[in-house]
Amino acid sequence: MGKEKLRITVLVSGGGTNLQAIMDAIESGRIRNTEIAAVISNNRNAYALERAKKAGIEAICLVPKEFGSRDAFHQALKETIDGLHTDLIVLAGCLIQIPAELVKAYENRIINIHPALIPAFSGQGFYGLRVHEAALRRGVKVSGATVHFVNADLDEGPILMQKAVEVLPDDTPERLQRRIMEQAEWQILPEAIDLIASGRVRVDAAGHVIIAEEKE
Ligand code: GRF
Repeated sequence: MGKEKLRITVLVSGGGTNLQAIMDAIESGRIRNTEIAAVISNNRNAYALERAKKAGIEAICLVPKEFGSRDAFHQALKETIDGLHTDLIVLAGCLIQIPAELVKAYENRIINIHPALIPAFSGQGFYGLRVHEAALRRGVKVSGATVHFVNADLDEGPILMQKAVEVLPDDTPERLQRRIMEQAEWQILPEAIDLIASGRVRVDAAGHVIIAEEKE
């Protein structure tokens, strides 16, 4: 009897290129033993929802301002995720703050892709192009992406994987963003999901991620 598949729910807000990388990696077998339960967006116009629909994956839209209160939105988000029998929540270009009750209920079962080498250019206000504008302003020679577990503090959770990307002399924020997505995000996010699906990832008492060797 094959192992139970890891059921992942992917939270998106925008174009969904990271979601596409995950779907393609499941299709190609780069991500093993995993199925996408659904894609949830806070933004009705997110192209990520189109990508999900095209792939026959349930596409759900929960728009915060369509709820009576922030708490009502948070409750609906958690009930939807619970109802999907989610094993792992994947934030893929997700711009909403994950509520504390969800972080608590899914401790070390929420991962996020951040477009920089945390702790660099991370935390409050560092998202999307702003991350790359700050990296170029600082004149760094290397940037990259980080997959980390989500805890109560923004971008502070245990680091699972990182990949460095060279910054080129004539880079603009857009060019740097694109290179980091292509060379780092779309590589390490699928790889991190495969590691988790293979049962090779744990967080030790010091809050460091331990990745076990691949079993023969
Ligand atoms: C990108 O800037 C990416 O670095 C960050 O979210 C943005 C959109 O990603 N993770 P996507 O195309 O929606 O996956």
